[in-house]
Amino acid sequence: MKEISTIKTTDPKEAARLLIRGGVVAFPTETVYGLGAAIFDEAAIQRVFEAKGRPGDNPLIAHIGDVGQIDLLASELSTSADRLIEAFFPGPLTIVVKKTEAVPAIATAGLATIGIRMPNSELALAFLRACGTPIVAPSANISGRPSPTTWQAVRDDLDGRIDCILQGEPTEIGLESTVVDCSVEPPVLLRRGAISIETLQSVVPEIREAELGDEGPARSPGLKHKHYSPRATVAIGTSLPLGFAGRAAFIGTSMPRDVFAESRIAASVEEYAANLFEFFRECDRRGIDLIVCEAVPETGIGAALMDRIRRAAE
Ligand code: TXA
Ligand code: MG
Repeated sequence: MKEISTIKTTDPKEAARLLIRGGVVAFPTETVYGLGAAIFDEAAIQRVFEAKGRPGDNPLIAHIGDVGQIDLLASELSTSADRLIEAFFPGPLTIVVKKTEAVPAIATAGLATIGIRMPNSELALAFLRACGTPIVAPSANISGRPSPTTWQAVRDDLDGRIDCILQGEPTEIGLESTVVDCSVEPPVLLRRGAISIETLQSVVPEIREAELGDEGPARSPGLKHKHYSPRATVAIGTSLPLGFAGRAAFIGTSMPRDVFAESRIAASVEEYAANLFEFFRECDRRGIDLIVCEAVPETGIGAALMDRIRRAAE
């Protein structure tokens, strides 16, 4: 891949101009940074897959700055989809719905459905509104690595491979959006995120969680790929494995039982979630061999946090 110079800017309008000219632009959301291309620009979307090294069978999420754009993307909306949009847009929720003919196949990896989300971040919304078109965006990391929660993490992975980084604050939530498939009845939770299943069920009681191994033939293709992984080995617990001699780090909300080379004690499960991916990256920079992550109760964002930790530990 040819090296290009990646423009860094804090101006959403400048970033939008680059995108509209066919560029690929990383931008912050409330969950993680995304790597955007205009949804009707197939060449730019191709560059998103190339820059990330993303398998072509993994569909992208369309990001909108205005609920009026949903009509461009969705050919039909179920009552459940309507209710979820009403309750949670803008917010860390992606709904999967039947797509329109206009959405190019490359955006959805050939699927007849498309994921749609309206981020709840002022800078993201300013950028999306300046673009004036839906933007497809996977997380702005090299495929398989932890999602980026800071613009510096985007730079570390993608500098010289993308046109622009819109520089914002570290992302607030730090884990990717909840994904719900609304193209089937009852709707199915495909990926846990900041909006918990209990919260979703308060609006659409029928929503059920996909059983592990019940993902069907590539129902959420992204989940079968390796994800969220630091170079270090990840383990769940509060102590070192017996006889472990390497450099180990700990992250959790309580004091660990052993002495670790690095540790991050968060004041809450929310703070733990917001810090996880950046801690993974920091451990890699410091040559840590093993990262021990404390288990938390699987309610609220704890469910999403444990999902990411388990995948990283696989
Ligand atoms: O919070 C987020 O969702 C972030 C920010 C940037 O918005 N984006 C993100 O995108 O995490 P990505 O591409 O890393 O993850 C998208 C997930 C994948 O697991 C993918 O398989 C699933 O959503 N997905 C996307 N479109 C789908 C579809 N049509 N049907 C089923 N799953 C879909
Ligand atoms: Mg991703």
